[in-house]
Amino acid sequence: MHRRLIVPSVLAAASLLLAIPASAAGFTPGAPGIGDPYYPAYGNGGYDVSHYDLKLKYQPSTDRLDGTATILATATQDLSRFDLDFLLDVSEVRVNGAKASFATSGQHELVVTPAKGLAKGSAVTIVVRYSGVPSTKSAYGFSTWHRTPDGAVAADEPESAWWWFPSNDHPLDKATYDVSVSVPDGTQAISNGVLKAQRSQLGRTTYNWRSDKPQATYLTTLAVGKFDITTGTTEAGVPITNAYSKDLGDNAGAARASVERTGEVADWLSGYFGPYPFNALGGYVPNTDTGYALETQTRPFYSPKQFANGANVSVVVHELAHQWYGDDVSLKGWKDIWINEGFASYAEWLWSESQGDGTAQELADYVYASHPADDAFWTVKPGDPGAANQFDDAVYDRGALAIQALRDKVGDTAFFKILKGWPAEHAYGNASVADFEKYAEQVSGKPLAAFFDTWLFTPSKPAAGAARQARIAHPDARPVAPKSWQRIERAHTVHDH
Ligand code: TRP
Ligand code: ZN
Repeated sequence: MHRRLIVPSVLAAASLLLAIPASAAGFTPGAPGIGDPYYPAYGNGGYDVSHYDLKLKYQPSTDRLDGTATILATATQDLSRFDLDFLLDVSEVRVNGAKASFATSGQHELVVTPAKGLAKGSAVTIVVRYSGVPSTKSAYGFSTWHRTPDGAVAADEPESAWWWFPSNDHPLDKATYDVSVSVPDGTQAISNGVLKAQRSQLGRTTYNWRSDKPQATYLTTLAVGKFDITTGTTEAGVPITNAYSKDLGDNAGAARASVERTGEVADWLSGYFGPYPFNALGGYVPNTDTGYALETQTRPFYSPKQFANGANVSVVVHELAHQWYGDDVSLKGWKDIWINEGFASYAEWLWSESQGDGTAQELADYVYASHPADDAFWTVKPGDPGAANQFDDAVYDRGALAIQALRDKVGDTAFFKILKGWPAEHAYGNASVADFEKYAEQVSGKPLAAFFDTWLFTPSKPAAGAARQARIAHPDARPVAPKSWQRIERAHTVHDH
């Protein structure tokens, strides 16, 4: 009796499920943010992207961008609708081939409601057709789309994607990319990874770039303009493509004298951090008037201003160090920014040491001594600086000081093992400051909770140990900067928004 009844009731339940609208069957909207306390609306919940395919057409004279984004994702819950982060004007959204309805919400949310609910674990293909003039769009009152006299640049942190492609805009959701850009003949389009194809037709040239390792959205870059391209190979065999705006004026020589050393620097860094993690490398210097650099994956962005006083290899060291610390191993939340900036800054100190321009210890002593105990510098905790202080000097300089203190604490052998082991431990993934603490304890065999608490999580100046007290002869005298200091300071000049 019972057995016979089971079959029809299962069938009835299944057909009911199909008939009931998604929302009524336990399908719920994805969260409008991924859950980062510093930036609650950044990223989204309910799905995970594996690949972005961007087909773009850009007109430098008008700043008009037309695009089709094809996004491959997996639903991570039974989804009735989901958000993307985006600012341009959308004309059509399809989900798994069917037209979806869409609306905007909040500062940068594109809310997509598919015709049918998306079952947890199922593959989802999202196609977004869009257009717009990125320079006319803003969120929270700012824009990070940078126009240049002959094009534009998308390179910013922690947000730059909203102005040019719809995304799950948070480093926790890394994906691979194909970026195809059509521009007028004579103009170049630069992005991450390898240039797979370049074709000219009817007055336009299309550049197809592929970045085939997981990449955070803020590390995905686009530059359109008139560039000179140089190519090369690292000793390890990684192909290098660099791009220099034809409009760098007086800074052109110094820019090349710095960025052309990319291969040498990457090979040198691999001695500390392990093999370079990607299959393409380079740098680009567009004709922007911005004052910062960014570790855009495989191909960092540099501002001409950074080369205003001559070659600046320190900034190249910094951005290339991020390829391991920040890009290969990305942060889990923006509070973990020390993992990026502390280590990229420390790499500059190691470079200084290798060039005979001041040892890491001398630079650490200088940072320590040049900020008296009542300096606001010490109130910022590098391990959790707060969104407002995310890129404060303390994250960079006190951050690197903490790393030198770790070297002192565990000794060179364990220290360099940690430095090299970390990228391998979390290759192509995400990790937090807490994960780093655990890893450093594991490799060194030393309890380090109190140590990290002092150097990363205490809003005051740590006491100088006896060794440092002896080295700093006059704690109140103005300390003498090591030779490399000015260069290092300029390397991380950033803007506020
Ligand atoms: N991460 C960049 C670097 O260290 C610096 C940076 C901070 C930045 N905030 C930014 C770059 C905003 C561009 C935009 O090189
Ligand atoms: Zn940095």
